[in-house]
Amino acid sequence: MNSQTQTAMQQVRQWLEQAKHVAVLTGAGVSAESGVPTFRDTQKGYWAEFDVQDMASVSGYRSNPARVWQWYSERRELMLHVQPNPGHTALASYAQQHPGKLTLVTQNVDGLHERAGSPHVIALHGELMGNCWLNDACPMCDAQAALSAGGQPPQCSACGNMLRPAVVWFGENLPAQALQDAEAAAQQCDLMLAIGTTGAVYPAAGLVFQAHQRGAKIVIINPDDTELDGIADVCLKGTSAQILPELFL
Ligand code: APR
Repeated sequence: MNSQTQTAMQQVRQWLEQAKHVAVLTGAGVSAESGVPTFRDTQKGYWAEFDVQDMASVSGYRSNPARVWQWYSERRELMLHVQPNPGHTALASYAQQHPGKLTLVTQNVDGLHERAGSPHVIALHGELMGNCWLNDACPMCDAQAALSAGGQPPQCSACGNMLRPAVVWFGENLPAQALQDAEAAAQQCDLMLAIGTTGAVYPAAGLVFQAHQRGAKIVIINPDDTELDGIADVCLKGTSAQILPELFL
């Protein structure tokens, strides 16, 4: 870590020490060092390989459910073989040692923050390992009894309703309570860390602007530039697995 980053790191450690309430917004970058692909990394991000409308929208699911179900099955399979990385662990340890001080809001659906031991994770975009019904359930819709055939998602044998991943797709509302809790944290914090996110997707990225408008210090932790850099007080250029253990010393 160069001397400029070290100096900036010292400043952020001071803000961390002085803060009464720290809000953290994480994105796919915090799971990159666990071996989980991000979305917008130019070479290997998911959106370099797939069209987001095909794979992360209700219309894309309706037009080709097998294709989307297969992609989520592959992502779920991957999660069985990856572990939280030192960035996840550093965040969890800090939250455990400072009860009530840090609120963790994540855009990630991979469950790695929870597996690392972070308490009370606010998951804005749902959870990869969960399912829900695509249409309103009929009295016979039973996720345990739903049958899958020929690579199609499991369906209700009575009404043909399909299961779908319990994640938020583009054009869908975020879980109301999660968003409300995340906005409360953004408005009450005196330090906001935005870690491993391009800051390209709303309303999640808007949380950082809300914190900024309330006068919170804004720190971006990312090896690359982001859409949030313009409102940052400090940008720590590096990966989360390298920076977070150093930051939360
Ligand atoms: N440490 C920290 N940041 C990293 C690392 C790393 N090791 N590797 C990559 N990054 C950064 C990238 O530079 C990029 O800024 O992580 C960010 C990942 O950005 P995206 O792929 O856009 O992911 P994210 O910001 O979480 O996307 C938000 O978009 O597609 C939807 O629902 C999806 O939740 C996702 C949302």
